[in-house]
Amino acid sequence: MNIIYIGDIVGRAGRRAVRKLLDEVIRKHNIDFILANGENAAGGFGLTKKTADELYSYGINCMTMGNHTWGNREIYEFIDREDRLIRPLNFNNVVPGRGYNIYKVKEKNIAVINLIGQVFMGNNNSPVEAFDHVYEKIKEKADYIIVDFHGEATGEKKAFAVMYDQKLSLLVGTHTHVQTNDTQILNYGTGYITDLGFSGAVDSVLGMKKDKVIYRLKTKMPKRLEVATGQVQLSGVYVELNNQGNTTSINSFIVKD
Ligand SMILES: [Fe+2]
Ligand SMILES: [Fe+2]
Repeated sequence: MNIIYIGDIVGRAGRRAVRKLLDEVIRKHNIDFILANGENAAGGFGLTKKTADELYSYGINCMTMGNHTWGNREIYEFIDREDRLIRPLNFNNVVPGRGYNIYKVKEKNIAVINLIGQVFMGNNNSPVEAFDHVYEKIKEKADYIIVDFHGEATGEKKAFAVMYDQKLSLLVGTHTHVQTNDTQILNYGTGYITDLGFSGAVDSVLGMKKDKVIYRLKTKMPKRLEVATGQVQLSGVYVELNNQGNTTSINSFIVKD
């Protein structure tokens, strides 16, 4: 089973990166399933039906989210109907949407779970308790378990991956928008990267226009951030999984147009 996981897609530039560059990455490998983090896909904050559909049309099979899940209110209208979209499992129980789903790919069941951290990430429920609860429900059925752990702190993501090394096929970190140079296969076969990095405009601060970010940094005044433009990059990992549900190879990529 060969999969690609794309890091946070930031706005129009990020969507353009997927449109222009995904084919090139796919062509080099025989890809069965494509995942992405979509929390910034619509104007940098959240997701609309139109942007989600656009990304699916480029070949993305499943999108996970993060702290910007509710950044665009349109999502309330479609999140419950959209089985390709997953928001953090350990949000408060009353929120709409789903925290995991299982997809049939090549006669195998791939479980995808989205978790959000608790360190520098606001007041979320425990990702450990949330995962344990769902794991009991899916462990018999799932051939592969893939987690997008959306978090700021590197150590929190690594500790979670190590803790569940015997249960997970792959854990990718998202949220920081900076790709880490630490792809590895953990002792019991879990593929791991601390952060996939972002997909969007290269000449930017994490995908957003530089001047607005600098203004906020200098003045501490509010300023609406805007998605940057220009040359784009697509960031993510290419992963091979074996029939035992383990990662046999994981390679990160950042390709530019
Ligand atoms: Fe993000
Ligand atoms: Fe985030």
